[in-house]
Amino acid sequence: MDLSTRFMNLSLPNPVIVSSSGLTANIAGVREAVEAGAGAVVLKSLFEEDIAAGVERSRQNAVVSHPEAEAYMEQLGMLLEPDEYLTFVEECAQSVDVPVIASLNCHSEKWWTDYAERIEKVGADAIELNLSPLALEQKTSAMDIENTLVNMVKLARETVKLPFAVKIGQNFSALPHLVNRIQKAGADSITLFNRYYMVDIDIENMQFKSGNSLSAPEEFGPVLRWIGIISDLTDLDLSASTGVYDASGLIKVLLAGGNAAQFCSVLYRNGMEVITQVLEDLSSWMEKHEFSELSDFRGRLSLEDDKRNAFFQRLQYVKALKG
Ligand SMILES: Cc1cc2nc3c(=O)[nH]c(=O)nc-3n(C[C@H](O)[C@H](O)[C@H](O)COP(=O)(O)O)c2cc1C
Repeated sequence: MDLSTRFMNLSLPNPVIVSSSGLTANIAGVREAVEAGAGAVVLKSLFEEDIAAGVERSRQNAVVSHPEAEAYMEQLGMLLEPDEYLTFVEECAQSVDVPVIASLNCHSEKWWTDYAERIEKVGADAIELNLSPLALEQKTSAMDIENTLVNMVKLARETVKLPFAVKIGQNFSALPHLVNRIQKAGADSITLFNRYYMVDIDIENMQFKSGNSLSAPEEFGPVLRWIGIISDLTDLDLSASTGVYDASGLIKVLLAGGNAAQFCSVLYRNGMEVITQVLEDLSSWMEKHEFSELSDFRGRLSLEDDKRNAFFQRLQYVKALKG
């Protein structure tokens, strides 16, 4: 059975990717994922805030107040501070034989682009940009948010030659339009979707607390819908993230036209051995249906194939409501 796939011009032995998370925050986790069979790993993100904090620290350490010198120190801070991450990327790239995708989590158009360039130099195979601009003011429009996001993609394209994926959240009102802009701006792939940090409130102590950091399998529905719709409307490679829990989730992503699926919460819950099971189940399913490679069935059930039944379009459950 040939499970290999090409994804962002990279050759993956199979379509199971371990998502950016604490699972891929150290070399032991990355090795464990690959030993269990992962086809690629997305490393824990370096957050723009980490870069900014490094810049701030070096500014405070510098006994300078001239604006030009300060700007220089800002750059220097960038160059000095998050070296640990670069070493980590380099070590991972050298110690596993599947593609290593570094990750940057950014929300502004600042100096992270220099950092992307440095990630390229230490041997990452690709970069995933987790772009999460958040509208917290009335004056910020949906178009402002999308423009910021697209500008970040353009900046990244101008900076790095590596293939890069853009990971976005699902709260966009016109996703096909945005995806088209992201493609034109130069991305190679899109990850649908980032799962935002959940906020919750402790009602007894009347304090904020974190919501569930792990997803539930029920969260997969919107991911499947949008993979099915977007796969027919773009040439970008697609990876699914959020609520993919087993081989059936992965097979659905592939049938809907996705190229790969990212696994995270299920690995936190049940361990890396899930990956081995998913690959076994995928192979058995392919054997049962007499497929020998992924291209035999990938994209069979995308938007185009659903013209008559309108499963992808149907947002209002009309059929279910009418019984
Ligand atoms: C503990 C934890 C840490 C995470 N850290 C990151 C991160 O650094 N960067 C990122 O892009 N996504 C991060 N994520 C999000 C995951 O990559 C993934 O998109 C999300 O958990 C949804 O997938 P799932 O349903 O398979 O868990 C994190 C998720 C968890 C649970």
